[in-house]
Amino acid sequence: MNREDFKMLEDDIIYFDSGATTLKPKILSQATAEYYNHYSANAHRGDYDISLKVDTLFEKTRYLVSKWIHADSKEVAFTNNATDSLSKIVWGFFEDYLQEGDEILLTKSEHASNVLPWFELAKRKHLQVHYIPLDENLSVSLEAVKNAITKHTKVISLAHVTNVIGDVRPMKEITSYAHQLGILVVCDGAQSVPHRKVDVKDLDVDFLAFSAHKMLGPTGLGILYGKEKYLKQFRPLIVGGGMNSSFEFDGTVIYNEIPHFLEAGTPNIAAVIAFGRVLEYLEKIGIDKIEAYEKELKEYALDRLKEVPNLILYNEKSESGIVTFNIRDIFSQDLAIYLNKYHICVRAGNHCAKILKDDLGIKNTCRISFYFYNTKEEIDRFVEVLKNPNLKEEII
Ligand code: ALA
Repeated sequence: MNREDFKMLEDDIIYFDSGATTLKPKILSQATAEYYNHYSANAHRGDYDISLKVDTLFEKTRYLVSKWIHADSKEVAFTNNATDSLSKIVWGFFEDYLQEGDEILLTKSEHASNVLPWFELAKRKHLQVHYIPLDENLSVSLEAVKNAITKHTKVISLAHVTNVIGDVRPMKEITSYAHQLGILVVCDGAQSVPHRKVDVKDLDVDFLAFSAHKMLGPTGLGILYGKEKYLKQFRPLIVGGGMNSSFEFDGTVIYNEIPHFLEAGTPNIAAVIAFGRVLEYLEKIGIDKIEAYEKELKEYALDRLKEVPNLILYNEKSESGIVTFNIRDIFSQDLAIYLNKYHICVRAGNHCAKILKDDLGIKNTCRISFYFYNTKEEIDRFVEVLKNPNLKEEII
């Protein structure tokens, strides 16, 4: 769909790495250039026309983001990326909230960004990190969550969709159960928000993190959603201009309201404004259409990949547009380099989910991840290249 909107697709390239970052539509660079060339004033500071325009468009993006996830605008703060959002959630809120002996529940298929901040916090505050066991499809059931909870569990932090297996977690059911026990839920939406409807009111998650660059937006821009009552309890991790309304020589400080007190310093204005344009573009296409099309591509790919000799699939049952595989006796990185010769971009390695190896039974895999600009013809070409009878020779 909409391939003409992507300049890079004019090149001889098959891009199957949208889980890492998506391609960018022409409107993104146009909107960025417009800001830098025509009204590059600062945000929230000036009393002149172009500064007012910046403020209006900056806050318009916040509104569009809040609409996209069904939040209130004041519950949406801009960060640098999903990693930054997750770290801010951990250090800005949970460092004070959790007490010695409390337990954090994760899984072994979480991305590093949803593991390492918890490890650090656990070390500092003498907390316990425990893992919800994965089932035979490497996914998480509500039953497994229930069994993993103890009277010490205070927070469950999960990817909504994981970046290697692409399984979709039953976040609504998990959150509803957790809340009955007073447990908070953090949701890493990096691989879900770009691909399916994520409604924070419906899921009722307490925090959500995601990145703009995985949904056609600019790099260097992330989103931190938190329920108003929790954002109000945040300790501002970075203090300075733009986040206070007054301070006195004796140390008295009055901070701005949420979400502005989480956005110290001049923000990435061009990125925020351009992301607004991208969200309008995505809204026109429609998230339901995107999800359905990716599902169709995934089913088509799974079907065609059956023709590839020695192919090992790791996530046939998962619902998202992610296919993780290896070819027997070929190192995943070698296969990615081979595919690159045919201008096919896939990701190889552990994909930052470095403790999944225990359950997956292997450290490294190849991953293809779709977005709506991919086509069945590209999958056909990919399968043909994998079916090359001289594949092993070409790799060696
Ligand atoms: N988290 C990104 C990925 O899965 C980088 O590729």
